[in-house]
Amino acid sequence: MRNLIDITDLSVDEINDLIKVGEDIKKNKAKYAEKCKGKQLATLFFEPSTRTRLSFESAMLSLGGNTLGFSSAQSSSTVKGESIADTIRTVSSYVDIIAMRHPQEGAATIAATSTKVPVINAGDGTNRHPTQTLTDLMTIKEAKGKLSNFCIGMCGDLKYGRTVHSLVEALSRYENIKYVFISPKELKMPEEVLNILKQKNIEYTEVESIEENILNLDILYMTRVQKERFKDEKQYERLKDVYILDKEKLKNAKKDLVILHPLPRVNEIAEEIDNDPRACYFKQVENGKYIRMALILKLLNQ
Ligand code: NCD
Repeated sequence: MRNLIDITDLSVDEINDLIKVGEDIKKNKAKYAEKCKGKQLATLFFEPSTRTRLSFESAMLSLGGNTLGFSSAQSSSTVKGESIADTIRTVSSYVDIIAMRHPQEGAATIAATSTKVPVINAGDGTNRHPTQTLTDLMTIKEAKGKLSNFCIGMCGDLKYGRTVHSLVEALSRYENIKYVFISPKELKMPEEVLNILKQKNIEYTEVESIEENILNLDILYMTRVQKERFKDEKQYERLKDVYILDKEKLKNAKKDLVILHPLPRVNEIAEEIDNDPRACYFKQVENGKYIRMALILKLLNQ
């Protein structure tokens, strides 16, 4: 039985295979329409979500399976004081596979040890978000034709943003990737994530300006400043709009730059960019469904 708690739970070959299956699903949807007939997915979301939860549900429905679950902790017995372990144990007697999002780092690991059905981490606090990473990798592969030999800039809230933590962890296993971490001092990439690169002698730089660095980038991954993680509201207010990507800032960017964002966007990408052919964040949204279909198939051995 397999779980996906951390992107490193999958080998590089397995990730590449999932992307291939995701690409095939995108082209041949009908072929997969009955693959999970009779199977049930639970989506247990203790934190807000639009894309992740709905793409999981849409993925399972498009595989011919069914879904059930909840979209806030408030509507579950968590408010009565039930533990994660007990909730998971309960739900796993109803379903074949579980996708869970929780505000606590490590919650998905606790969940996985409380059940025999596969558990997918759909985001655990500020820690990791491996299925967003699969989405990101599929989109990079689609846009660039490869998952190696490029320079990626990650910009915004690198401290609390779990998507960039998982993405660094994943890309560190591919060849010749350079990293430019663009953030204010208060929101730098955590040491724990930088250590993944240090241990492999992989180059990275930490900078504060988009303008001065954009010309070197092949990929620019923008992120939202994670309001819900700040203890100090004044600090959030001060930092929330430090980076707003607009036409002006893209002036020196490469013609084939790929602009990514896990979404939701607040102010960090101006809407005027949405029609730029380099903007790929709505492609990520679409790919998110197909790669999750591929993942569900794999974990259920269908
Ligand atoms: C991200 C998340 O939940 O971490 N959203 C997503 O799943 N696409 C990013 C964010 O909330 O900023």
